Amino acid sequence: AKAQIGVTGLAVMGRNLARNLARNGFRVAVHNRTPERTRSLVAEHGDEGTFVATESMADFVAALERPRAVIVMVKAGGPTDAVIDELATLLEPGDIVVDCGNAHFADTQRREAALRRHGLHFVGTGVSGGEEGALHGPSIMPGGSEESYQKLGPIFEKIAAQVDGVPCCRHIGPDGAGHFVKMVHNGIEYADMQLIAEAYDLLRAGLGAEPAELAEIFREWNRGELESFLIEITGDVLAHTDASTGRPFVDLVRDQAEQKGTGRWTVQSALDLGIPITGIAEATFARSLSGHADQREAARRAFPGGGAKLKVDDRDTFVEDVRRALLASKIVAYAQGFDHISAGSREYDWNIDLGGTATIWRGGCIIRARFLDRIREAYDEQPDLSTLLVAPYFAEAVSAGVPSWRRVVAEAARAGVPAPAFSSSLAYFDALRAERLPAALIQGLRDNFGAHTYHRVDRPGTFHTLWAGDRSEVEA
Ligand code: 6PG
Repeated sequence: AKAQIGVTGLAVMGRNLARNLARNGFRVAVHNRTPERTRSLVAEHGDEGTFVATESMADFVAALERPRAVIVMVKAGGPTDAVIDELATLLEPGDIVVDCGNAHFADTQRREAALRRHGLHFVGTGVSGGEEGALHGPSIMPGGSEESYQKLGPIFEKIAAQVDGVPCCRHIGPDGAGHFVKMVHNGIEYADMQLIAEAYDLLRAGLGAEPAELAEIFREWNRGELESFLIEITGDVLAHTDASTGRPFVDLVRDQAEQKGTGRWTVQSALDLGIPITGIAEATFARSLSGHADQREAARRAFPGGGAKLKVDDRDTFVEDVRRALLASKIVAYAQGFDHISAGSREYDWNIDLGGTATIWRGGCIIRARFLDRIREAYDEQPDLSTLLVAPYFAEAVSAGVPSWRRVVAEAARAGVPAPAFSSSLAYFDALRAERLPAALIQGLRDNFGAHTYHRVDRPGTFHTLWAGDRSEVEA
């Protein structure tokens, strides 16, 4: 019998996806540019299911039942385009090309339109969960046509992570919707990690404790509302001791965070859409700042005295303050991320189900967390929710956390410990709930220097004041 699905590109992610498919009973055709990889996959894991090993792209395509479904798992950018172009010449109308890499959604939109002209479906699919997830059950976010999902849905839903019997996979929406949602997932991932890193830094500055002791605090937190994969592995990383020196592992890692670009894409897209994802942006810039070694060295010399300690009166109160500040800031990051998805969905006509998105992030993906269930509930109860912050569960968590949040941010500022994501999230919250914003003054200044006009609070219309003249007001 022919293969039900194919995977080309057998580096670790492709290999693990192919194994996951085979283990779940699907017949998988496998292909790699250098055939040694294909052979080693079958030699090492052939007993896990039915692999159809192929050496040329033509054999690969011929091995598939129709409509063919081909997963492309090669490097993003040029290599992906090259494989898609080659496939396009071999496939037939109705066949489906699936890109499971981290592609930019605009590239996905372009590729989808190009393949559609050949009668082919192109399905940009976000896959989260790293190597382990690909093998044991990732969170899967497919875009593309409804029709393609009829073939892919049953396969992807079977190999995805399952939470309470519900698969962490659903059709997100047309063309680039899947990659867009995966991009925002990564933006939230950046914010989540930056917030965790700041919490660790504050705890260390406040308690003067060793990383292994701090690991215990994160393990404790992972038993409550903050329960999540990232908090769990924070405990692991902090508890880890470097074998060659016997020192805490985290103290031996160079403090410059890298990125492959999905966080940057998220921020760029949010700027285009006019959505203030300030926490995600702050987290992305915090990574950039950490990488500017020369500037950091110069500033350290010019302004010595960093590495200050926080003033802590009561250990338990302080730890609880940091926990609540972390939870509140994390809620802001998710509120901003969902705001961004909602704006993208409107702009590109994707009709994305926000509650459904939260549902498939409950398992498999890097940001999986207990409170995604609460996000799903919030959108179930109120599909047109203006911001997650005001949904009952989150409003309560934030309100309960505000005093702690303020103490932590104020104390960090006083002592000189940078907490950019904590403080930016708090400022976002305060700005959203402000009675009046100084934006009114900005409008006045714009009108003063450039006749950019303004609206009044007391009557409709667009106005301009004749600043250089008699300062009377005219209707614009
Ligand atoms: C996932 C991750 C993954 C991402 C890495 C690294 O959902 O499995 O988001 O797709 O590539 O997390 O990203 P950075 O190198 O940009 O940190």
